[in-house]
Amino acid sequence: MMKRTFFLGVCLFLLPAFAMAASSGYPLDHIEPDLNDKASLQRGAKAYMNYCLGCHSLKYQRYGRTAKDIGIPDNLMLKHLAFDPDIKIGDLMTSSILEENAKYWFGAPPPDLTLHSNLKGGPDWIYTYLRTFYEDEARPFGVNNLVFENVGMPHVLSGLQGRQIKPECMQLPQLASNGGQKRDVLTGDVLLEKKCGREITDAGHYPLQKVDNTGTMTTADYDAMIYDLANFMYYVGEPARIDRTRIGVYVLLFLAFFYIFTWLLGREYDKEFHR
Ligand code: HEC
Repeated sequence: MMKRTFFLGVCLFLLPAFAMAASSGYPLDHIEPDLNDKASLQRGAKAYMNYCLGCHSLKYQRYGRTAKDIGIPDNLMLKHLAFDPDIKIGDLMTSSILEENAKYWFGAPPPDLTLHSNLKGGPDWIYTYLRTFYEDEARPFGVNNLVFENVGMPHVLSGLQGRQIKPECMQLPQLASNGGQKRDVLTGDVLLEKKCGREITDAGHYPLQKVDNTGTMTTADYDAMIYDLANFMYYVGEPARIDRTRIGVYVLLFLAFFYIFTWLLGREYDKEFHR
């Protein structure tokens, strides 16, 4: 009986980990979101409104709250980041796409993304997902994704990032047993070997190849834009996070200050007690 309860306990404890690991298993790239970087949040909001809101609503978030939190004046928010002149600053950031249509077009309706950064792998997942679309003729929109296999979403940023292909096999440096790269003794050239499928990622290499001159952005600029987008989505997932860290500092300062008086009072009580 004890054993079974223990086993059940362990399973329940590990449940969130299983849920997180349920995606494709492609290793996620890690980013550190920074909610104090207002410029990044503003750029992320701009990218989101331009490229994502058309399909994905943020229906738990209002224009006004977003503008205030990320430091954009209300009038500029409405002028540049709201696409319908009828939108008021207090409105929710909904998308105008109809769910029935979207489901018919894409096979799956584009989900609301307000809370997405609290799910799956968080900002890391979003950051990796938007950088790992690759060409796959078997899919309706001609693209597939490394972290979300057989995804229904087209690669809407393809014009910026450029096309990426996933070669079955790649020529990669041979690794020595100490982890370094093997070199030719005479020429000093790095020795290459053919790696295929999962071996490519297992050896720590990015398994996609960019087709030259197909995107308007460099890889570094594109990655920076996706960082801003992921950062913005992290903010939207829990807007109170900005205030919470700021207020938290004051609370800790107050407690430290209060401790002095508590300690002095305690010392007075202590005197009475021992007499
Ligand atoms: C043309 C419509 C369209 C646009 C524009 C679009 N998406 Fe999507 N997106 C979809 C659809 C459809 C799905 C659902 C795919 C599925 O379930 O197979 C999806 C799925 C997603 C998911 C995964 C949701 C999940 O189930 O975990 C994320 C994250 C996402 N999109 C982010 C974005 C971001 C960020 C942008 C802006 C750069 C964007 N999308 C632009 C249609 C769109």
